[in-house]
Amino acid sequence: MNARSEAGAGSRTESAGQDDAAGRTDAAGRTDAPKRADAVGATDAAGRSEDVGWDEDGAWRTAAWRSGSGARAPRRVAVADDRMAADLAYRLVCEGTALLWRGDYHGARQLLAALGRRVDRKPPKQGATPRESFHLYRQARTRRARVLGMLLVPLETAADGSWAVPLRRAPRVGEACAEAYGPPPGPAGALTLVSLRELQGVLGAHEWRRKGVPIEALGGARIHPRHGVFSPVRGEYVDLVARAPLPRAAGAGFGEDAGLREDAGPVPETGADGGGAQGSEDSGGEDPGGLTAFDIGTGTGVLAAVLARRGVGRVTATDVGEQALACARENVARLDVAQAVEVVRADLFPSHEAGRADLVVCNPPWLPAKPTSVLEQAVYDPDSRMLRGFLTGLGARLAPAGEGWLILSDLAEHLGLRPREQLLEWISAAGLRVAGRLDARPEHARATDTAAPLHAARAAETTSLWRLRHAEEAPVS
Ligand SMILES: C[S@@+](CC[C@H](N)C(=O)[O-])C[C@H]1O[C@@H](n2cnc3c(N)ncnc32)[C@H](O)[C@@H]1O
Repeated sequence: MNARSEAGAGSRTESAGQDDAAGRTDAAGRTDAPKRADAVGATDAAGRSEDVGWDEDGAWRTAAWRSGSGARAPRRVAVADDRMAADLAYRLVCEGTALLWRGDYHGARQLLAALGRRVDRKPPKQGATPRESFHLYRQARTRRARVLGMLLVPLETAADGSWAVPLRRAPRVGEACAEAYGPPPGPAGALTLVSLRELQGVLGAHEWRRKGVPIEALGGARIHPRHGVFSPVRGEYVDLVARAPLPRAAGAGFGEDAGLREDAGPVPETGADGGGAQGSEDSGGEDPGGLTAFDIGTGTGVLAAVLARRGVGRVTATDVGEQALACARENVARLDVAQAVEVVRADLFPSHEAGRADLVVCNPPWLPAKPTSVLEQAVYDPDSRMLRGFLTGLGARLAPAGEGWLILSDLAEHLGLRPREQLLEWISAAGLRVAGRLDARPEHARATDTAAPLHAARAAETTSLWRLRHAEEAPVS
């Protein structure tokens, strides 16, 4: 099904504005135009792009296409190197021609930065409402990702069977690529194309995985995220799980924890701790070793590990992502809580054999919007699917005196994407009630950066841990 298409746009020579190192001209002030190139992304039966082909030095070449974020293979590819001017490169990628870099690796990085500056010259428009501004912002981010994703680098199967980038001054990528993609395909010399931006993400993820993220709630112990797995860099939601009072084990009595607000109303303007959990006792002072918990959508396993460190006897952690499951298993083993935490593949709740739990924790993606890449799936929850699935199924999996802990930021409310009333309605329709709420103010840089997009909504954001119980269970006064 390979249909070639012209990439004539790449054949014009132009001089460049030399505001960056990547826009290079030769001694005569000319900029090298890309070699004429036609390319096509072949598609598999499911319609996904699998490989890519292009003309280079008069020969037709093909390579496998890789995109961890699920981007389609480009349909037109032109060969480029350090002589290409940034303005010309920008025009080509905007027109839909991907650039396969054959020059110096650092030149490719500089060109990517130059392309980024050009995309950013046109900031996202402000909408008439926060909701409209959010959609315009996402549109702009999607376009940015698409344009910057058009600068490609080759990945090769090296003679020793590892991944390598066959470019001058390229970094070692073997371990990072093997972690993200598995072993390289084909014999030595087999070629794969990947966007430089993605490769940078893979290398960055490798560093995160190697170094880990220190978690205050784990006494500074580190969680090691993986490529494509939600990383707990925002510590405030983890702290909420670390300090919320644990419910009592089934059969230990139905008491509410003293000192907690019965509150689903507005959050105070200031102060990090709206919930006032200080002074409340875990499990009414009982040993939490008898407690069972589910951690729904465990990601790195961080919340399951926090619960285990708090002494919860048995935690079943679920996820649907293969990388997340492997990552969570690795983290719980590193943190020496594997005897208390079982990581299982499940869509939301573990199988019914796991019964009901005293505590069911869930930190779903916070924004109801469609992810545009695989990597966005931990941030965007289309139609609040995971949130609603958790709430709808919670009652059936919660022990009689158990608690569901829903961790959610109200950013969606500030952006006009999901009103508070909607959340409260879902909670009540699921036969649940709000037994209390702990709040925290995000401390990440964007919350205070007045120049950051969507600043007003981000500045007003509060992250909450909603304590949910069976509605029919009367609170003890
Ligand atoms: C926002 S991340 C939270 C990860 C982790 N609990 C934390 O707090 O850092 C949401 C997680 O839910 C997982 N997930 C999404 N849909 C799911 C489903 N239907 N069942 C189980 N897990 C799911 C995602 O793979 C992701 O790891």
